[in-house]
Amino acid sequence: MRTVFWDDEANLVKMIDQRQLPWAFAVVAWADYKDVARAITEMYVRGAPAIGAAAAFGLVLAAQQSQAAHRDGLLQDLETAATILNAARPTAVNLAWAVARLLRVAARPDLTDVHDIRAALLHEAQTLADEDVALNRRMGFHGAELINDGDTILHHCNTGALAAVDWGTALGVIFAAHEQGKKIHVLVDETRPRLQGARLTAWELQQRGISFDLIADNAAGHFMRTGQVNIVLVGSDRTAANGDVANKIGTYKLAVVAKENGIPFYPVVPTSTIDLNLAHGDLIPIEERGMEEVLTVFGHTIAPTGITARNPAFDVTPHRYVTGIVTEVGIVYPPFVKHLQEAVKQASTP
Ligand code: MRU
Repeated sequence: MRTVFWDDEANLVKMIDQRQLPWAFAVVAWADYKDVARAITEMYVRGAPAIGAAAAFGLVLAAQQSQAAHRDGLLQDLETAATILNAARPTAVNLAWAVARLLRVAARPDLTDVHDIRAALLHEAQTLADEDVALNRRMGFHGAELINDGDTILHHCNTGALAAVDWGTALGVIFAAHEQGKKIHVLVDETRPRLQGARLTAWELQQRGISFDLIADNAAGHFMRTGQVNIVLVGSDRTAANGDVANKIGTYKLAVVAKENGIPFYPVVPTSTIDLNLAHGDLIPIEERGMEEVLTVFGHTIAPTGITARNPAFDVTPHRYVTGIVTEVGIVYPPFVKHLQEAVKQASTP
């Protein structure tokens, strides 16, 4: 089952409720685009490509909810919905990328009738979702070149089928290497505070029968320094034009320790996650989530009452720590400023 999809019969957006995994597998359905925006903020759906697809289907809902009888009224309603969806989470650029892609379709001059605009939006959202699955497969294929038989891979957060429409990014590379028959082992960072590694990555690897151990985030440096890691694979929520990579909080620390120990560090990044409008990573908006995520674990307070906490959800890894970036058009190496631009161009050339 796909992580996020459109139910044609019910005219609803459906998604796996990732907040309940691994304890329960539940699918939630939304009829209102505002609920889709809330589902993104509250992380029913998370992971950059999955958020993008969810927002695209959210706009399809917005078009259906609109009472407008004429093109201009519908486009106005879609702009309102786009603003609300775009504000759901700030760091993953796939959200704005998907919303902009659908708005461009809605504004096509040949679409004058509201019914045609609604149909075109649904078609575009479906295409975007299908493309996501296909390009993740291609990234997996390219990235698997980097994995040798017997390798141990360090992985952070969740970048699998749950983080995309299906298959995944960094975890997709691991699935591809496993499919090719390579004997691999994965060290899974638990990824505090939301525990995407412990809850979601461990669940996905277990389902596929891939060998892994869950580790506390704090153990990663030990495993790298003692020669127990061959390669670090992560995803990205936004990669700037110069190759600086924003990803789940804790990624920067991994990259620095990897470089110190001569371990290759590869983000796996669809070109939809590359933001050529931003010259460097310091321009990437970093989401800061509520302090209760740090102060509590599954509803239990883990610190003295009345204290404060900080909870940045992402950090930026400067490109000097990045060995290469796996994309759907191949592996990009420095100088990233030149080669990322070429990759984006190649990906958008039919
Ligand atoms: O806060 P999350 O769970 O949405 O963060 C997800 C990540 O950081 C992933 O590594 C990223 O989205 C890229 S993988 C598809």
